[in-house]
Amino acid sequence: MSVYLDHNATTQIRPQVIAAMAATMSEVGNPSSVHQHGQRSRKAVEVSRAQIGRALSARPEDVVFTSGGTESVNLAINCVIAAGGVKRLIVSAIEHSAVAEFAEKSGLPVEILPVSTDGVAQLDWLARRLDAWNVDVDGVPFLALMLANNEIGTIQPVAKAAALLHAAGGLLLIDATQAVGKIPVDFAASGADYMAFSGHKFGGPQGAGGLIMACNAPSAAHHHGGGQEKGRRPGTENLAGIVGLGLAIELATQSLEDFAALTSWRDEIVAGIRASAPDMVLLGEGAERLPNTISLAIPGWKRENQVMAMDLAGVSISAGSACSSGKVRGSKVGGALQLSPELAEAVVRISLGWNSTRDDVDALLLAWKQAYARVAPRLSVSA
Ligand SMILES: Cc1ncc(COP(=O)(O)O)c(C=O)c1O
Repeated sequence: MSVYLDHNATTQIRPQVIAAMAATMSEVGNPSSVHQHGQRSRKAVEVSRAQIGRALSARPEDVVFTSGGTESVNLAINCVIAAGGVKRLIVSAIEHSAVAEFAEKSGLPVEILPVSTDGVAQLDWLARRLDAWNVDVDGVPFLALMLANNEIGTIQPVAKAAALLHAAGGLLLIDATQAVGKIPVDFAASGADYMAFSGHKFGGPQGAGGLIMACNAPSAAHHHGGGQEKGRRPGTENLAGIVGLGLAIELATQSLEDFAALTSWRDEIVAGIRASAPDMVLLGEGAERLPNTISLAIPGWKRENQVMAMDLAGVSISAGSACSSGKVRGSKVGGALQLSPELAEAVVRISLGWNSTRDDVDALLLAWKQAYARVAPRLSVSA
């Protein structure tokens, strides 16, 4: 049996995207070349930019192609630092390491926007902090806040955050990497100055993503070289990736209703697991969450053991977020949600995807119940 339920780590590329990318790769042409081959490639880049603009309610000219979520958030933070006015960074307590670690390494002081025990950013904290903000000392306020959390799927009040920031003359970066393709995302309505997204989270290729930059947002290149992307991201474009990204975002946006329908399977899985393990804790339970994401903890059942037990049964789920070393890494949000250390060590994530099936849900529940039945007697002894 092989069941994949780790779609927040990466999801299956859509077949139409593979076909479009293969067709692009069989052509030749650098988008910067002036001859007919170059012009065809340039046209393909601009078609993708327009598809992204339509899907995310952004002006195509504000879309900068990058290699994905990590590069996009790094680029945005680099822009505000290079522009000079920002002297300290605020990041939410549940940001992905792409934001949190880049902020840490920026050399600027970093303040943490706390979240509720349900994993939602506490905007009353932000309002108080901005009230006390002294622009002469603290510089231009800057906040990085994700639209949807990668581990627990909680949706964050980004538009309200944008209003607070803008009233204080500040700037907002929204990391929409886990939201695009899963819920409607509207750059214009969000009020964000920057918004990051990544193709492999919604049926596009790995290694292709983008940053939307509002027209008046500070801009500075992270790399230097050719003038591609109006100098905002120099280097020959990842043409096939960009073509795949544009088509994938269009297809994902057209099927948002299907994605929303995953909510019933999400809730069925939670109910099925809870029926066996009434002491299960569902993270973010009281908050609005992505339709596909379940983050749960069974007291005493360590995440790595649970993930391995499921893997042996042929079901791929994850502990915390995916990380490059391939190790089972702990939940980042456990601490932010003030879970006990025992519970934080038990958090696992199950994430459905656009191609998940009823059979996947049934197989997961069966495998999970069998694994739990084996481990449960030992859990109650140690508790
Ligand atoms: C919220 C969030 N931001 C950023 C990233 C990094 O994206 P990428 O893998 O495209 O670099 C991820 C990936 O898991 C993510 O979930």
